[in-house]
Amino acid sequence: MTRTLQRAAALQGALTLPGDKSISHRSLLLNALASGEARIEGFLPSADCLSTMHCLRAYGVQFDYDPDVDPTSVTVRSPGRAAFVEPEDVLDCGNSGTSIRLLSGIAAGRDFLTRLDGDASLRTRPMNRVLRPLATMGSTVDASDGGLAPFAIRGPALLPFRGRMEVASAQVKSAIVLAALDSDGVSLIEEAGHTRDHTENMLSAMGADIRREAPSGAFPTVEIHPGAELHPVDMTVPGDISSAAFWLVAGTVVPNSEIHLRGVGINPTRAGVLEVLNAMGARIDVEEERSVGGEPVADLVVRSADLHGITIDGDLVVRGVDELPVLAVAAAAAQGRTELRDAQELRVKETDRVAATVANLRALGVDIEERPDGFVIEGGRELHAGALDSYGDHRLAMAAAVAALIASGESHLKGAEDVIISYPRFWDDLEELTQAEALA
Ligand code: S3P
Repeated sequence: MTRTLQRAAALQGALTLPGDKSISHRSLLLNALASGEARIEGFLPSADCLSTMHCLRAYGVQFDYDPDVDPTSVTVRSPGRAAFVEPEDVLDCGNSGTSIRLLSGIAAGRDFLTRLDGDASLRTRPMNRVLRPLATMGSTVDASDGGLAPFAIRGPALLPFRGRMEVASAQVKSAIVLAALDSDGVSLIEEAGHTRDHTENMLSAMGADIRREAPSGAFPTVEIHPGAELHPVDMTVPGDISSAAFWLVAGTVVPNSEIHLRGVGINPTRAGVLEVLNAMGARIDVEEERSVGGEPVADLVVRSADLHGITIDGDLVVRGVDELPVLAVAAAAAQGRTELRDAQELRVKETDRVAATVANLRALGVDIEERPDGFVIEGGRELHAGALDSYGDHRLAMAAAVAALIASGESHLKGAEDVIISYPRFWDDLEELTQAEALA
């Protein structure tokens, strides 16, 4: 679907953000491990999270879920992982890296075969990073030489994991943690960056003996002592800061804007986008800080501001990894040079997000140079309308839409429907924010 987009004169309004995608996945996956019932509110009804639900059903997990009545409420009813049944079919994870990698960790502890697959994009993404550690823990892995989906895993993996992770990835860490719960010793994972810690937080609330330590100046370690009985936990999923990021940037770069974003998760392992925008000169107020589902949450208010370029590298990349495409739009609007370094991981997301960001911003006249691990943007040029493409990637579609809001003329975005992967209401919310302009 191609969507026509225009320059916005202002963005005004208040939005309640959709549920966090990472936490919505985990609310199903982790509760499914325990025997019993858990009620989830604020669930994100996106295609990725529904892929997780669909796959877990194949293990015998039941969900009370009626999207026509309330798409954000789910009850998980599980027999517990010890009573999972062997899936009859291949588990189709669709576009979802979180589904396939976390399910791999669960599959590694089962004494039967699980086959996992996904769509054309997921089939290109590296799986060895998760299959190697699971094989080291004793599970049998059957994958192509390149370590791509489809693949099969037969457990149980019984050896604990002890060692340094090869990449800074919360999906890989979580897969190891999930396998470690079923192993016969203490696992110690040394991280390669401050990746999101939702798995640790939620497992700990479920009664697992899991300890995350993050000493200053060093990467975190996660220690897992298997054996503790897990119990299901009811939870409310906070709003997704990765979805809020589009409005944080749009509200900053579109003139005359003021957007109130209610109930946004601000876990420090996810809040890199706030640090980057603040360092660039954005005006973002963080109000009403509170705790929701064991996660820090706040209301955010963003107002238009003039930005200046900065360097984004190291830990900021890890803590803002999904927000980098839209931060490139902020950089295009900023005066001066912004350099993104250390972001080679972007090349193995739903699409090559370095190449796709460069192509889209160039189409609008941005001065952007591609680098192996990021890009350099000389900001402050006038943007003109152009032909934009999601490249099959939900976040690229939304980042391109934000860029089009500051480009003169009519831009055309191919693949606008891809927002369904993480933010199905994105276009409705954009319309709501531009209403104020139409009324004025
Ligand atoms: C996620 C972790 C990140 C992120 C993805 C969601 C998660 O991936 O990009 O959108 O839910 O754990 P990596 O672990 O591959 O960095």
